[in-house]
Amino acid sequence: MTVCEYKPGLEGIPAAQSSISYVDGKQGILEYRGIRIEDLAEKSTFLETSYLLIWGELPTKAELEAFESEIRYHRRIKYRIRDMMKCFPETGHPMDALQASAAALGLFYSRRALDNPAYIRQAVVRLLAKIPTMVAAFQLMRKGNDPVRPRDDLDYAGNFLYMLNEREPDPLAARIFDVCLTLHAEHTMNASTFSARVTASTLTDPYAVVASAVGTLAGPLHGGANEEVITMLEEIGSVENVRPWLDNLPPKSKIMGFGHRVYKVKDPRATILQSLAEQLFEKFGHDKYYDIAVELEKAVEEKLGPKGIYPNVDFYSGLVYRKMAIPTDLFTPVFAIARVAGWLAHWKEQLGENRIFRPTQMYTGDRGAAYIPIDQR
Ligand code: CMC
Repeated sequence: MTVCEYKPGLEGIPAAQSSISYVDGKQGILEYRGIRIEDLAEKSTFLETSYLLIWGELPTKAELEAFESEIRYHRRIKYRIRDMMKCFPETGHPMDALQASAAALGLFYSRRALDNPAYIRQAVVRLLAKIPTMVAAFQLMRKGNDPVRPRDDLDYAGNFLYMLNEREPDPLAARIFDVCLTLHAEHTMNASTFSARVTASTLTDPYAVVASAVGTLAGPLHGGANEEVITMLEEIGSVENVRPWLDNLPPKSKIMGFGHRVYKVKDPRATILQSLAEQLFEKFGHDKYYDIAVELEKAVEEKLGPKGIYPNVDFYSGLVYRKMAIPTDLFTPVFAIARVAGWLAHWKEQLGENRIFRPTQMYTGDRGAAYIPIDQR
């Protein structure tokens, strides 16, 4: 075995061979199974894209209808899960609630028939169907309300917005939300996907795989950044304050929603999300934080563009979600709803070629040290 150089954060080290998605960070290209993200955003739906990611090809009309109808059927959650969630503190972060609830699904569907295609399909369907219901249920229950039952006559995105806001969403808002889910569905070997694959490689159940990925997504350097972006825009407060705010940042500060390990240009998803935000503002009214965001993008590009620091997917997504009345601390759970598709695709791919992840380390500690009795320390 060749001895490799240590790379913090495993930068540039392939962790798997994968045919699920592709990123060209210099040209700003993202493809799912070879199809450009711009095409999928315009022409596909989240569930069709999920099918593509998980099963490797676009479904026929009949396959898609069957998939959608199975997911519709499994949207409800058991009353025991609802009762468990009712006991969660309302001050807890919804990502923690989601991680615990996703793990709890394993208590109900714990059989690990990983070599049975029917089991794999059922797990895929259950997770895609129930995660949005759990996110919406926690939101209503922490306000002291009963959760709303899913509506079979609404599509995936429309039903989620309905369960969250207790009213049928505007069709444009529902379509734009569906596009947001498509944009967030998959993104090569990011931290949460790596986490999902490591967990999958032990042959544990898929609910544990998703729960571990949700925990990883929650951090501010990963999915949690979308929430931090809105907090930052609120702190800046006005377009006039953008440049003074930026100039007064302590050296080496990370500006939320900017930078990426792979993209050295503007993330193509940020470009699409920005145009979705503009479409929403045209119909539902402007948001002053958008002007602050645009000015910040300009100022950061002037300052950090030469270092390859540009907006990432998390920069404009929060502005879209705000217009849909989605609370700020639900932005990352919404990211998770979408990314479940990618995690499941990687789970399935990992099972197909599985070898448990067991990397090595470079030991930097002492060897052969003497044990000092407690009264002599
Ligand atoms: N603001 C200012 N400088 C930055 C930023 C930023 N957001 N991101 C990177 N840099 C600088 C960094 O200071 C470093 O400079 P130097 O070489 O002078 O020390 C250089 O760029 C490389 O940064 P790094 O931290 O080594 O890069 P990384 O690949 O380890 O981290 C990242 C990538 C996304 C964690 C980082 O860019 C970051 O913390 N961004 C802010 C948080 C964020 O928006 N996260 C969302 C990521 S995309 C979607 C997702 O994964 O959910």
